[in-house]
Amino acid sequence: MTTQTPTPIHEAVREHYAERIKNNASCCGGGSDCSSTSESNLYPAELLTTLPAGESAVSYGCGDPITLAALQPGQTVLDLGSGAGLDCFFATKKVGEGGRVIGVDMTPEMVARARSSAERMGIRNVEFRQGYLEDLPVDSNSVDVIISNCVINLSPDKSKVFSEAFRVLKPGGKLAVSDIVTDGELPEAVKQSLSAWAGCVAGAVEAKDYIGMMEAVGFTNVSVNPVFFDKETVDSALDEMKLDVNKYPREAVYKAVYSAKITAFKPA
Ligand SMILES: C[S@@+](CC[C@H](N)C(=O)[O-])C[C@H]1O[C@@H](n2cnc3c(N)ncnc32)[C@H](O)[C@@H]1O
Repeated sequence: MTTQTPTPIHEAVREHYAERIKNNASCCGGGSDCSSTSESNLYPAELLTTLPAGESAVSYGCGDPITLAALQPGQTVLDLGSGAGLDCFFATKKVGEGGRVIGVDMTPEMVARARSSAERMGIRNVEFRQGYLEDLPVDSNSVDVIISNCVINLSPDKSKVFSEAFRVLKPGGKLAVSDIVTDGELPEAVKQSLSAWAGCVAGAVEAKDYIGMMEAVGFTNVSVNPVFFDKETVDSALDEMKLDVNKYPREAVYKAVYSAKITAFKPA
């Protein structure tokens, strides 16, 4: 039973992603070309080939947490905001039959899609749970590695997400996340747009604050390495959000927003 009361941000984000999966639209802000595993430019080719050819599990991510996590056979992996399940499916191939993978997502349409894809591909060491990152339906000290792809920026209470992640990790466990962070403040008008929030822009916080929130709940060895977006990628995301160019100064967004590879550990 969840104790998390959905906020207006949860509702806007849930509606956005429910709509996108119903329409098979891809990617966090939209516009880019990561609509199927065979086309994705986020992952190395050798990872893409671990899933059946032509499998069109949809990606809404902004990076490759699987390579970052360096998963090992036998591990238990938790994916925060698992969406249509793509990273979970990759993770099952890395942990093998002796390991297991849990995906948590608050959007019922995403959970349903992920479950039906797992069934179709015959992947048995994965399960998808509907729930909030701020109140994870996962036992304490039960997970070896947490992965997440372009999700934590969407949470209205990132400190709670980090404290929940810390709770469910085993001592010595690792967190390996791709997420959007900023370098400097976003324009106020952008921060106040719910559609910019749902598109993974407005909810992003400064890298130093992201690190600060993780350290505050106990994570150690926190590392944040930037992967900068090109102007076209940011443009297509902002176009998708239908933001008024005069109201939302794009130059400021180009400068401020980037995807990052983030790792951290729960002390042993
Ligand atoms: C940008 S998509 C990323 C999906 C997936 N990680 C991927 O790479 O394709 C964000 C996902 O996170 C979920 N999500 C966002 N905020 C959440 C929250 N607070 N609790 C649970 N799920 C959340 C959304 O429902 C959506 O499926």
